[in-house]
Amino acid sequence: MLKSKMVIDKSYKLAEIDERIYGSFIEHLGRAVYTGIYEPSHASADEDGFRRDVLDLVADLRVPIVRYPGGNFVSNYNWEDGVGPVASRPRRLDLAWRTIETNEVGVDEFARWCKKANTEMMMAVNLGTRGITEACNLLEYCNVHSGSFYSDMRVKNGVQSPYDVKTWCLGNEMDGPWQLGHKTAEEYGRLANETAKAMRQVDPSIQLVSCGSSNSEMPTYPAWEATVLEHTYDDVDFISMHQYYAKRTDSKDFLAEALRMDDFIKTVISVCDFIKAKKRSPKKMMISFDEWNVWYHSLQKDDDIMKNKPWGIAPPLVEDTYTFEDALVAATLLITLIKHSDRVRMACLAQLVNVIAPVMTEKGGAAWRQSIYWPFMHMSLYGRGTALNPVTASDKYDGSNFTDVPYLESTAVYNAEKGEVTIFAVNRSLEEDMLLGCDMRSFGKCALIEHIELAGFDLNAVNLPNNEIIKPRSADTKINGAEFDVKLAKASWNVIRLKVSD
Ligand code: AHR
Repeated sequence: MLKSKMVIDKSYKLAEIDERIYGSFIEHLGRAVYTGIYEPSHASADEDGFRRDVLDLVADLRVPIVRYPGGNFVSNYNWEDGVGPVASRPRRLDLAWRTIETNEVGVDEFARWCKKANTEMMMAVNLGTRGITEACNLLEYCNVHSGSFYSDMRVKNGVQSPYDVKTWCLGNEMDGPWQLGHKTAEEYGRLANETAKAMRQVDPSIQLVSCGSSNSEMPTYPAWEATVLEHTYDDVDFISMHQYYAKRTDSKDFLAEALRMDDFIKTVISVCDFIKAKKRSPKKMMISFDEWNVWYHSLQKDDDIMKNKPWGIAPPLVEDTYTFEDALVAATLLITLIKHSDRVRMACLAQLVNVIAPVMTEKGGAAWRQSIYWPFMHMSLYGRGTALNPVTASDKYDGSNFTDVPYLESTAVYNAEKGEVTIFAVNRSLEEDMLLGCDMRSFGKCALIEHIELAGFDLNAVNLPNNEIIKPRSADTKINGAEFDVKLAKASWNVIRLKVSD
């Protein structure tokens, strides 16, 4: 049996976690919106055409914020197409995803959905084919009470109170040559900063996110971040990070992908702090990791669809079917975000429904949870409060892309209000169980509330409609006192919830 150790001390605090770290993303892409969250002809549809079965599954995730409407889609989007009487909304070619956009759902419908899903909108503006004026107009439509052209337009469209959207993304992946209106770092940095300043004149209370690199393999990374921050440092609150993780070689290596995320975050923090020093600025730039997930199963299929199929409405694109091992990788990525929660203040699991998503639907049929649903839900429910800085020790292994990979990936979150500490842990070993020794003496008394585990499945097992085989169970764990051992099954995700006396 492998051995590992965690010393969890209540005074070793990393950060108060911003709950927006459990954000997600809905793009007008594939079946995320149409036949995902919205399907008026579905048996579960409510009076607004939203699928209640999807709303229920989303509600259980307690997602505090959802990025919208893209993604690549936003870089050629006219938000005005999606407001006003639905019958007179234009059908447009969505060039990003070779799809016909009917515009049945736009800002007002999405805002209504967010209310029902008990979440907030994180709005992205088009800085690809459009610019400062259109971004300000959309902000005016959303956040100004009334008495101006666009705020009155919203009122005329039946929405009296402003939406008060707090968080705004200044474009999407503008470093990517695939992006409509792709820009150099200089071009984007200037535009983003001028847009930020103008938007703040409309509403000074908003928070703004400028685009970082689309991933850490972009040829312009990390110089892109440096140039963009040179321009935007004073006027934005966040720089974005995006990265999707794939099985490049074998399972051992795949399970170590969080090390790549860790390295990426550390580099972006260094770039932020370099610009901070250069500008002699007292301000600390924060990170919005607003696209992250596992994504590789559907890539080839989508390539074929995009090349060969005629234009269609809501084609099934980017629909990864997630395996049990994908859930373990997603769990290690979530832990890594929490381990950087002093700088990663927001993050979005990309995406939420049908498109590389925890929730899947059949058109006219079932909705179900994919394997990755579980670690996301557990962290979102129990990972709120103070991220602690546990001292850990674990045996390590080497893979072909990674060396010194700890078998144990873990973190701990203290919720002082509830008097609870939750340990989140993945045992990366595919062969051996692990005995995790925990030292929590600084908390005085400790009692186990429950040990939830996701374990014992074939690495390639998947959940299917009406057949969710991957689901958590309660582990038979007993603890005695504030120093205790917990068995972590091989290839497992573990949520160890403890009542503490202090
Ligand atoms: O989430 C899917 C796509 O991935 C988004 O549209 C884009 O921003 C990223 O490349």
